[in-house]
Amino acid sequence: MTSGDLRKKFLDFFKEKKHVIIPSASLIPENDPTVLFTTAGMHPLVPFLLGEKHPGGKRLANVQICVRTGDIDEVGDTTHHTFFEMLGNWSLGDYFKEEAIKLSFEFLTSKKWLGVPKEKLAISVFEGDPDAPEDTESKKIWRSLGISEKRIKRLSKKDNWWGPAGQTGPCGPDTEMFFWSGSESAPDEFDPENKKWVEVWNDVFMEYFKNLDGRYEALSQKNVDTGMGLERMLSAINGLGDDYKTDVFSPIIEKIEELSGKKYEDNKKEFRVISDHIKAATFIIGDKKGVEPSNLGHGYVVRRLIRRAIRYGKILNMPENFLVALIQKVVEIYSTSYSEIKRKENDIIAVVQREEEKFGKTLQEGLKQFEKIITKGNISGTDAFHLYDTYGFPIELTEELAKEKNLKVDKEGFEEAFKKHQDLSRTASAGMFKGGLSDTGMISIKYHTATHLLLSALRQVLGDHIFQRGSNINAERLRFDFSHPQKMTEEEIKKVEDLVNKKIKEDIEVVYEEMNLEAAKKAKAMGVFENKYGENVKVYTIGEYSKEICGGPHVKRTSELGHFKIIKEESSGAGVRRIKAVLE
Ligand code: ALA
Repeated sequence: MTSGDLRKKFLDFFKEKKHVIIPSASLIPENDPTVLFTTAGMHPLVPFLLGEKHPGGKRLANVQICVRTGDIDEVGDTTHHTFFEMLGNWSLGDYFKEEAIKLSFEFLTSKKWLGVPKEKLAISVFEGDPDAPEDTESKKIWRSLGISEKRIKRLSKKDNWWGPAGQTGPCGPDTEMFFWSGSESAPDEFDPENKKWVEVWNDVFMEYFKNLDGRYEALSQKNVDTGMGLERMLSAINGLGDDYKTDVFSPIIEKIEELSGKKYEDNKKEFRVISDHIKAATFIIGDKKGVEPSNLGHGYVVRRLIRRAIRYGKILNMPENFLVALIQKVVEIYSTSYSEIKRKENDIIAVVQREEEKFGKTLQEGLKQFEKIITKGNISGTDAFHLYDTYGFPIELTEELAKEKNLKVDKEGFEEAFKKHQDLSRTASAGMFKGGLSDTGMISIKYHTATHLLLSALRQVLGDHIFQRGSNINAERLRFDFSHPQKMTEEEIKKVEDLVNKKIKEDIEVVYEEMNLEAAKKAKAMGVFENKYGENVKVYTIGEYSKEICGGPHVKRTSELGHFKIIKEESSGAGVRRIKAVLE
């Protein structure tokens, strides 16, 4: 079975079961600022899991591209990836446990669909804890479908609970399906520690919301969120025992063999890291929201992926600029399913080539420097910073190299040294080091609120013809496109900045209400893409100054934003201007 067959089967099945097929969303979540990347199909759906009406209805299915940077160190085995595709189906307050499990079972076992023999399946369910009771219902349903008692294990929250990915959000117990990948017949009893049982599908019963105090509140709407890893399933169903042998990897692996003159079988880890990372980098750079390597947020992840791939390439003695040929393979593999990356192929190549040139020049020298440094033993913060600053070594690369030598890196010392060099980027320290990359979510929230103030200020200074034409936020800046026929003058820019800063100083409360779309329009709330909203919308009001339909979240008070500064005003197509601004 090819990847194309599997995607098609999955979508056809759920179409037949009255699900509406929705497209894969951007890898950079629009609706969930608590995560840096879309790590599962549910992120783009968060507002709808919380009760907003989805234009597609209550039963949805899709293939969502995902990036999980948390798994970067696991890449190298047969089943972990930073980039992967997730096949998913959702019930937004429609069916619940019984139908969800029966749908999964039918798709997996029916001869018309995947035709997996029941004997090759095992199941886990949530064992219960003080937050939520044991999931006896799921177990009963699986038993009624003919799964034996011994093949069902009750596991703890660590294994059988999904979400939230950030600090708060929808979540709930789940039941997971495992596939026996061994060539011998499966043992009677399911042992989750046995690596031959590969987890292939997860049905989450999202009926809770974890709030800021860490409490789990019942959601008014009970949802189902499922996720099946395409690569894993494909490998399982074809009896390959290795995701990297599936058709979404093998052309890249073959290209690496050709370029390095080495065999995959002898260098599995290097081949896997390189092919996984270049794929993830290609998709992130080629995303609708377009990311370039940088020292912050999304850009930092891209930089880390590319640089790590280059370092592993060096181990295999790959020729210079080898990543270009691999990007072409990635595009070839995915061009029919994700035409966006085909369209952007040349841009992606140019971006990666620039990064490869930048890093390629310093890598060899940096590695020599690293060898010198470790003659002194563990690596000090200053030395780690020197490797970062002069040789472009992401701190994680230094840590990884150190780990290979059983040495430690003084990360705190590194952070201190980094902070002293604020000129690298004014906001970098906030985004990157206060407890990890996902903290950039807070920065994004601030930029969201600043964008609302900016729109109002633009309308006040330039006139009522100003409407939002696009918006993009990352941890470094906001970007805002709006309708306006000519370049803004210096004076206009200054006026807009001053107005936004005045409103920030006024420390206005940001208030949110839910209402139906009609009421929101009557209240003169600004909205951008009306067909994007369901019947019920959230309206955020900032005093008398701004009222907008928006998924949120936003800061509580404007004074949290700091100081607002426009760093660029330029054209973005006919009749559209673009502003880039930062909060300092
Ligand atoms: N959100 C669930 C997962 O990613 C389905 O496993």
